[in-house]
Amino acid sequence: MKATIAVLPGDGIGPEVIAEGLRCLRVLAERHGHQLTLTELPFGGAAIDLTGNPLPDETLHACRAADAVLLGAIGGPKWSAPTAKVRPEQGLLALRSALGVYANLRPVKVHPALLGASTLKPEVLEGVDLMFVRELTGGIYFGEKRRDALSATDVCTYTVQEIERIVRSAARLAQKRRSKLVSIDKSNVLETSRLWREVTTRVMRAQFPDVSLEHMLVDSAAMHLIRRPRDFDVLVTENMFGDILTDEASMLAGSLGLLPSASLGEGTRGLYEPIHGSAPDIAGKGIANPCGTILSAALLLRHSLGLEGEAAALERAVSAVLEQGARTPDIAAQGTRALSTREFGEAVLAKL
Ligand code: NAD
Ligand code: IPM
Ligand code: MN
Repeated sequence: MKATIAVLPGDGIGPEVIAEGLRCLRVLAERHGHQLTLTELPFGGAAIDLTGNPLPDETLHACRAADAVLLGAIGGPKWSAPTAKVRPEQGLLALRSALGVYANLRPVKVHPALLGASTLKPEVLEGVDLMFVRELTGGIYFGEKRRDALSATDVCTYTVQEIERIVRSAARLAQKRRSKLVSIDKSNVLETSRLWREVTTRVMRAQFPDVSLEHMLVDSAAMHLIRRPRDFDVLVTENMFGDILTDEASMLAGSLGLLPSASLGEGTRGLYEPIHGSAPDIAGKGIANPCGTILSAALLLRHSLGLEGEAAALERAVSAVLEQGARTPDIAAQGTRALSTREFGEAVLAKL
């Protein structure tokens, strides 16, 4: 097959982990006779430095025209002054919004070989396999922002239609899994959450009677997630709660560097990125974990290119190298020799 992929390395460890994701895609394409056009474009802080804009027109057009977008990470101290007029993060939000990718899938599966990598007890983690569906183009991230000398305001709005479509995405995923959906909100305090709960209940009763639905308040969900993570199947929630809970959930798997994501809208075009950021504390050292990015590339092959076999092969390769003991420093046991980002990527390529 022929496909065009817009590649946005971004900032910090972004380019380091993207390099490994790209090598995997190139090897798979060659092996299976696909013509992938991989076009790297400026984005985030790197694009601010070049053009003053975190999402230059050229980059946005290329993303719109592509079959899929693979993104590393953006941001960093250089562009984070409280008084900064333009931020890398604005480019990311604008891109998600422009592509209409409202459903952010963040799977969390605990690899048996990494039970010891987490700060949590192995017996709590064994068998954990859950899927977060985070609403990505609405809520407090996109509401009006105001600031004067004595106050600041961020408006949170959700429409019925925005809630309906994300709940349907989550419910369809649940049907293909264990048919259990937990909807997370703060309906004891927030009006947007009361609407969220009402709409979710209605959509599930009317269209997905075969999927069990449980509502959970976000504070309690944060607790249950580490108390009994195995009980969860699919979790659906608004933009900001999903952001926070998925960083928490990454510790079930063992590291923030492990988790991939797929952001999807109505068509097959998607935006694929690890859930972590640019990790300024380790950037430039060549020690970042590339798993989140490599597994995001696998999700890209599956969801946007329809290449299930290639996606599964890539996931099996990552799983196999972890099984064999390959570890970047974030998941290595104390006192053991860890691999660099490049060496870990080499190990995955060797498996492929
Ligand atoms: P971060 O996710 O960059 O890092 C948090 C911690 O996790 C750090 O200790 C880091 O070293 C570690 N970590 C993250 N990814 C890792 C990997 N692949 N391998 C090993 N360790 C890893 O969060 P932060 O430090 O709070 O934010 C830094 C910048 O990243 C900020 O500007 C933020 O806005 C941005 N950010 C961007 C994205 C994105 O591009 N999608 C996501 C989150 C944060
Ligand atoms: C993420 C990040 C972003 C978010 C930031 C960088 C805007 O934390 O992708 O999880 O909050 O969505
Ligand atoms: Mn985040």
